[in-house]
Amino acid sequence: MALKTGSGAAAPPFIVMDVITAANARQATLPPGAPHVIRMEVGQPGTGAPAGAVAAAQAALSSGAPLGYTEAFGRRSLRERIARHYRDWYGVDLSPERIAVTVGASGAFPLAFLAAFNPGDRVAMAAPFYPPYVNILTALGMVPVLIEAGPETRFQPTVELLAAMDPPPDGLIVASPCNPAGTMLHPEEFAAIARWCDAHGVRLISDEIYHGLHYDSPIVTAAALSSSAVVVNSFSKYFSMTGWRVGWMVLPEDLVRPVECLAQNLFISAPHIAQIAAEAAFECDPELQANIARYRRSRDVLVAALPRLGFKLGPAEGAFYLWADVRDLTNDSEAFCARMLAEAGVAAAPGVDFDRARGSRFMRFSYCGPEADMAAAAQRLANWTATG
Ligand SMILES: Cc1ncc(COP(=O)(O)O)c(C=O)c1O
Repeated sequence: MALKTGSGAAAPPFIVMDVITAANARQATLPPGAPHVIRMEVGQPGTGAPAGAVAAAQAALSSGAPLGYTEAFGRRSLRERIARHYRDWYGVDLSPERIAVTVGASGAFPLAFLAAFNPGDRVAMAAPFYPPYVNILTALGMVPVLIEAGPETRFQPTVELLAAMDPPPDGLIVASPCNPAGTMLHPEEFAAIARWCDAHGVRLISDEIYHGLHYDSPIVTAAALSSSAVVVNSFSKYFSMTGWRVGWMVLPEDLVRPVECLAQNLFISAPHIAQIAAEAAFECDPELQANIARYRRSRDVLVAALPRLGFKLGPAEGAFYLWADVRDLTNDSEAFCARMLAEAGVAAAPGVDFDRARGSRFMRFSYCGPEADMAAAAQRLANWTATG
C-alpha cells in the first residue's frame, strides 16, 4: 500500500543549490591550468570565521570542558553580548531575556512563524524574495502572499503597496538589506511600515541578517521601531560564520515564552562551540570591516562594468548581491546562466528562484568571493557578451 507523504514533502528545491552543483561539476572537468570557475552564485563569504572566533573555539576545545546542550535560548553571556551589540550599533536598550540564540537565521524562521501564526494565516513579503520564506511558510500550512515590487520601490514593500492589500495580511516579512535585490528600506520608509503594521495588527518579521553589510544608507533595526516586531539575525554574513550555524532573534515580550518552548522541543539549543566562537566574533571588528571594504570595492567594479554589457542593475545598497534585469540579453535566465557558466566560466543564480512570476528575466550576482575573481568576472563577461 502506498504510504502517505506530508505536504511539507512538496517543498520546492532551492535552485541556486543546483547551480552550485553544476559549477562544482564544471570545475571538476577543467584541465589543469585552465581558468577556474568564478563563483558568483553563492551567498556565502569566501572568508572563514574571524581569527578571534576560531581562537576562542580552539581554546574551548583544548580546555577539555564538556560541550553539552546550553539553555534553549543560548549561553547567557552570549545573550548579554548580543544585547550590548544593540546598544553599540543602534543605541537601543534591550533586555537579554528577549534574545534567543538560534541555529542560524534558518532555525529562527520556523520558531518565529509557529509562534506568531496559525495554519492558513497570510504572510506577505515583497517579490523578489529569499525562497525559504515562502517554502517554510508553505510547509507549515501558512499562506505566503507576494507583493510584486519593482525598481521604482527598489524591490522593497511600501505602505502604499501594503494598504492596497484587502484584507491586510496577518504578517509581513521584510529584509533590509535584502536578498536577492541588495536594496534597503531607508529609515523613514521602514518606520512608516512598522507603524502601518502596528496600526493594522500585522506581525512584522524583520530579517536583519545583512546588517553591517551596507554601503551608503544607514541601517535601522525593527527592534527600535516596534515593540511587537520579531527581529531575525545571524552570524553567517557580517561575521562570516555560515558553517557555524548560529544566529539570534530579538523577540517581543508576548512571544518570549512561546518561542522558548518551541525551541526546547525543536532544537534543544544551538551548537555550544559555535556559541562560544560567536561571542568572540563581536571583538573582531577590524577583520570584519576589512571584508566589507573588499565587498565595497568589488561592488564598485561590477556596478561600473555590468550595465555596459546589458545587465540593468538595481541600486546596490547592501548585502553582497546585484539583481540584474537581463531582458535585453534573454527571456530565459535559467538557460542564460547555464550558458554563462559553460562558455564564460562565471556561475550566477537565475532569478526564477527568487521571483517565480518575473524571474526568467532577472538574475542575481553575488560579489562576496575573492576580489580578484570579481574583477576577472567583469572582464570575462565583457569578452563573452562581445562574442556571444
Ligand atoms: C535573507 C536571508 N535570510 C536568512 C538566511 C539564512 O542564513 P543562516 O545561515 O543564518 O541560516 C540567508 C542565507 O543566505 C539569507 O540570505
